[in-house]
Amino acid sequence: MPLNLAVFVSGRGSNLEAILKAIKAGTLDAQVKTVISNEPGVGALDIAKQYGIEPIVHPSLRVSRQQHEMRIEESLQAFEIEYIVLAGYMRILSPSFLQNFHDRRGFNRVLNIHPSLLPAFPGTNAYEDAFNYGVKISGITVHLVDDKVDHGPILAQEAFSRLANDSLADFKARGLAVEHKLYPSVIQQISEGKVHFYECKR
Ligand code: GRF
Repeated sequence: MPLNLAVFVSGRGSNLEAILKAIKAGTLDAQVKTVISNEPGVGALDIAKQYGIEPIVHPSLRVSRQQHEMRIEESLQAFEIEYIVLAGYMRILSPSFLQNFHDRRGFNRVLNIHPSLLPAFPGTNAYEDAFNYGVKISGITVHLVDDKVDHGPILAQEAFSRLANDSLADFKARGLAVEHKLYPSVIQQISEGKVHFYECKR
């Protein structure tokens, strides 16, 4: 049975596209039941449409977090969502929202991809922060979301190098190529019940 996903986006949507491509190619046994954006007019909405999904936009501007999350919850009720996949979603989900997505062990069925080797460089500018720090190796992390930001049990990490003559754009492009392989492959592991993780104790 394909894994039922809701993908949350706020921007360009290249990870959404990688997931949809993998499903189409038959390498990911999942269905994107809905795409939800908090930003109108972003590229991810066009990508959803290209794949036959009518995205849902719930603008977050001038709406309380509680109101906004209530609207999302209402939209999700139409689908039997097994996992929420955050793909460049720029809002923090509240503990009360996450509670609806507990699995049997109490972990949230909510995934995030972050462009650094967590716990290094959390936050919204991880590529820039790692590059400006002068790292020689960085990487991508896919993790379960918990109540803290860019935090929670790590499902997968893959490293990539910063090469001697890399510009920030080169560095980001190398990382993004890793993101686009890693996210679909971790979701596939989940759908096969094969993903393994350690409890995040700090
Ligand atoms: C990616 O770098 C992802 O790791 C981070 O936000 C960016 C989203 O890019 N969380 P896109 O919208 O998937 O192209």
